[in-house]
Amino acid sequence: MSKMMWAGRFSKEVDSKVNDFNSSISFDARMYKFDIMGSIAHATMLGEQNIIDPEESKVIIEGLKGILSDIESGKLSFDPNAEDIHMFVEAELTERIGDAGKRLHTARSRNDQVALDIKLYLKHETVEIAALTKELITTVIDIAKQHLDTVMPGYTHLQRAQPITFAHHLMAYAQMLTRDLTRLHDCLYRMDVMPLGSCALAGTTYPLNRKRTAELLDFREITMNSLDGVSDRDFCIELCSCISILMMHLSRFSEEIIMWCSWEFKFIELDDAYSTGSSIMPQKKNPDITELIRGKTARVYGDLQTLLTMMKGLPLAYNKDMQEDKEAIFDAVDTVKLCISTFIPMLATMTVNKQNMRTAAAKGFINATDCADYLVKKGLPFRTAYKITGTLVALCIEKNTTLEDLPLSEYKKLCDTFDSDVYEAISLDTCVMQRNVDGGPAPSAVKRQIEALENTLNGIAF
Ligand code: ARG
Repeated sequence: MSKMMWAGRFSKEVDSKVNDFNSSISFDARMYKFDIMGSIAHATMLGEQNIIDPEESKVIIEGLKGILSDIESGKLSFDPNAEDIHMFVEAELTERIGDAGKRLHTARSRNDQVALDIKLYLKHETVEIAALTKELITTVIDIAKQHLDTVMPGYTHLQRAQPITFAHHLMAYAQMLTRDLTRLHDCLYRMDVMPLGSCALAGTTYPLNRKRTAELLDFREITMNSLDGVSDRDFCIELCSCISILMMHLSRFSEEIIMWCSWEFKFIELDDAYSTGSSIMPQKKNPDITELIRGKTARVYGDLQTLLTMMKGLPLAYNKDMQEDKEAIFDAVDTVKLCISTFIPMLATMTVNKQNMRTAAAKGFINATDCADYLVKKGLPFRTAYKITGTLVALCIEKNTTLEDLPLSEYKKLCDTFDSDVYEAISLDTCVMQRNVDGGPAPSAVKRQIEALENTLNGIAF
């Protein structure tokens, strides 16, 4: 007869292909620790409430602890024929301690059990992702501190626009990543609500103390609707959204690094340990890591799409479709952790070619706005100043020169307001130094930005 726990109602064995199709042990086994922790808390509470004999509760807990340590030491391996991790642990427990093991599932269903396990697992993973994100932000800030006056071109439409500093550019990513961190924090807050006690869908007649179980498992709150408790996967979707946005930031950063490594830019060079060569072109040094991060962003977006689409048509409460949540969210979690932990040392070991950045900033009339602003500060309306500067730029292009090298006489021909102090006003360093507005690229402004962000980071509790 079938070994299935639910075999009682069935008159024949389930087809072995259906068995495999139905089974989730190959991917949910990774939650073993959280499944066992959840069961220990459940058994503790059942014993405290006298729903099961307190002595039996102790035996169950010892049995579960034994299973945990045997899995961890490699003594016990997962049975690939088990339906899922929950069934595996329960069957193993009953084999070890006999009838007491059969009492563990009192006032519980796999529906609330799996919801609990995923939450416990993802709470743990969210903290890990947050720690990595924080480390990445610190790495970015450390590099920024070394480049407060490294002038580089700032771009719009990938056209040189106005001069900035490398520190300022890097800090834009530190800001994005800090928002990611706060998003993870908010997500964790909403995730931190314990579903156990929802049972299959309609709660139970047993006098559970759900708050006690929540306390044992370090949850902030308990769910207040049993149907919602078992059928909610918002927390998977929300975490996957947070990860998707984080990956989008990593991907944009990666894209810039790819450009900066190219011969066309040569702003940075990646350490040999974080680049690869070509099998045919000896001169090549490829930024594969960043390309892979850009590529892996696509799969995380796919995971989010999977979760959203999987949930969109489900009636309340639990449906087996929801078993598909795990591979998607696990993949997203694994991917983002892998990407951040590879990105950090790659970033920390790259070399910055300050001279090339500066040379690029010196070209392309990047100081044209400052030239117009010079006239504005001398009393001209901005639009008039803008038009004059535009004409000057056209003149420079025609004469194959730059605003810095154009003789004052040429300036004066167009507008008498120009004086010899224009050269100082449009020098690259002045352009950057004077953008001291809060949020601007002047070294003093970026210093303030760094300080403020460091304060914010200290205030984010993880
Ligand atoms: N393996 C299942 C899942 O991941 C566990 C819950 C199964 N519940 C059920 N009633 N079949 O969703």
